[in-house]
Amino acid sequence: MKKFPFVIFILQISFSALTLAGQGTIRQSADKLGKNIGVAVSNQFFRFSDDHQYKTLLKSEFNTVVAENVMKPVSIEPVRGQFLFDKPDSLIAFAAANGMKVRGHCLVWHKQIPRWMNNDQLSSGELFAILKEYITTVVTHFKGRIFAWDVVNEAIDEKEADSFRKSAWMKVLGPSFIDSAFVWAHRADPTALLIYNDYGAEDIGAKSNAVFTLVKAMKARNIPISGVGLQCHFQLGKTNFDGMKQNMERIARLGLQTQITELDISLPSDQLTNENYEKQAREYEQVMSLFLKDNNCTAFMLWGLTDKFSWIPGFSLNKRGSALVFSEDYSRKPAYNSVFNLLNKSVRNK
Ligand code: XIL
Repeated sequence: MKKFPFVIFILQISFSALTLAGQGTIRQSADKLGKNIGVAVSNQFFRFSDDHQYKTLLKSEFNTVVAENVMKPVSIEPVRGQFLFDKPDSLIAFAAANGMKVRGHCLVWHKQIPRWMNNDQLSSGELFAILKEYITTVVTHFKGRIFAWDVVNEAIDEKEADSFRKSAWMKVLGPSFIDSAFVWAHRADPTALLIYNDYGAEDIGAKSNAVFTLVKAMKARNIPISGVGLQCHFQLGKTNFDGMKQNMERIARLGLQTQITELDISLPSDQLTNENYEKQAREYEQVMSLFLKDNNCTAFMLWGLTDKFSWIPGFSLNKRGSALVFSEDYSRKPAYNSVFNLLNKSVRNK
């Protein structure tokens, strides 16, 4: 008889272990909360068969996707007049088949544009026509299938006297290219959210002040801008989350949404310790908490599904890495668990 409670105890433990094993996914909570939570889809996606673990994880864990590269101008119109929509269309078909939303990234940027387009020797009339044709063709092609577009990416350089990055667009067309891009995108798809997206402008500082000044003036000019994308390429220990909250609040007061568009939190490659993975988990939790508490923030996007394909090692010349919530072998990191637990808690408190 004495053994009986012990058996019950063991049964309870194995039951909780079982429920943990089938613990559910980020997506289940995201769907219940009506929140857009997703990842950037790597170029590898297009090489995998439909039952590949990458695709299986993607659709079970997330309800939103963005193309990491294949919707950038260099991929869409590498040769003038030849638009390549196959890869984006197949990603969008995958998303539709699995009830996922799609963000569009990005229409105007100073990087990943074809050489023929990135040409400050062209006349302003020519470059204006090129940009108008590109935006109109691309947004029209995807009309109704993209819920939010990054229309202009990274146009601010707070070190410039006028705070504008001297891209070919800026040099030839002047700052009005930003307004024009939003107007053309809006005409082509009036229901899509139109976002100005930038990095290093998440908390309060010179860069976010310049972004704020830009979007405030755009609003005042009645330009159809819906919000500001906070890229959130963070390095562990360097983010001021209170400042980020304040920045999100001041953007909201302008009547603009915010979106977390490219979150990753990288670690120094020579400091991949358990302690740092725990710290990383706490920071992911902070960003998720800001997102969940702020109904004006309408997307939470990680810049990649797994560390296996993260852009960070390549970009940092292998000085940094391990920035995402799934490890290279697709297992859940402490960062995954912290985000997952916080989402579950929100569902319970709903
Ligand atoms: C990066 C991709 O992740 C890389 O694969 C590519 O080689 C370069 O671009 N800000 C952006 C993204 O807006 O488009 C960038 O994506 C990362 C920085």
